[in-house]
Amino acid sequence: MDYQNIKFEKDGALAILTVDRPKALNALNSATFHEMDHALRSLKDDTRALIVTGGGDKAFVAGADIAEMSTISAAQAREFSALGHHVFASLENLSIPTIAAVNGFALGGGLELALGCDLIYASEKARLGVPEVTLGVIPGFGGTQRLTRLLGRARAKELLFTADRIDAAKAKEIGLVLEVLPADKLMEHCKAVAAKILKNGPLAVAQAKRVVEYGADQDLRAANELERQGFAVLFGSEDQREGMAAFLAKRPANFQGK
Ligand code: CAA
Repeated sequence: MDYQNIKFEKDGALAILTVDRPKALNALNSATFHEMDHALRSLKDDTRALIVTGGGDKAFVAGADIAEMSTISAAQAREFSALGHHVFASLENLSIPTIAAVNGFALGGGLELALGCDLIYASEKARLGVPEVTLGVIPGFGGTQRLTRLLGRARAKELLFTADRIDAAKAKEIGLVLEVLPADKLMEHCKAVAAKILKNGPLAVAQAKRVVEYGADQDLRAANELERQGFAVLFGSEDQREGMAAFLAKRPANFQGK
């Protein structure tokens, strides 16, 4: 597929997906979602981490495409919402760790995209928010639910009701982003985090992600059972043998993801 609205690059085991529609501050239209969907489906086993960012120096993603949405019917809105939900769920369900490098405006659908990633880092220039109520609508790509689960009901409601555009420092204070970096250091930082993760056992990282994600939606008893299963299953892997043998031999582990 020839991408018009995204860039999708590989750098060894790291993939970088850049939403790249500068004329609309990288706003997400249907075509962009289809390209993102294609890119995510094309990921092969040799990719072990993914960074998502925005093209240009102004925006991560300034939301869903308002021009495309402005005249659609309720039925079309439901379809558009389902498309966004599908793509962000695909992102969230990847077995590899995903990192949002929020390099500018992350508003509405843009913030929802970041919320579909495992780790969110922001540049000092980032401005984040869910301004949908200023347009007479609500977030439609999972934002109401992922924000609530991440920040709790009151903070989520505050952002949703006021449409406030918060800066990166405030976003860190409330736990929406993990760290704030100078703009020219953001990508470097995200790549360094990815490199650190890539040194670890890939099956173990994938299990850690799985049990956190699936466990978070369950009661503690069921969630702890998930952990026990995830722990046990890793003892059938070559990576577990290698990791522990390497420790005992005082050498670095050479994980194969098997
Ligand atoms: N959709 C479509 N086009 C957009 C856009 C969007 N979300 N955001 C920006 N653009 C376009 C602008 O229309 C403008 O295009 P023209 O040059 O052709 O006029 C171009 O990008 C540059 O934008 P601005 O001139 O507005 O730039 P600015 O620096 O003055 O303001 C901004 C930047 C504060 C991000 C402002 O563009 C803005 O408020 N954008 C909309 C943010 C928003 O409301 N997002 C939520 C969308 S709804 C949603 O996401 C629903 C959902 O969950 C499904």
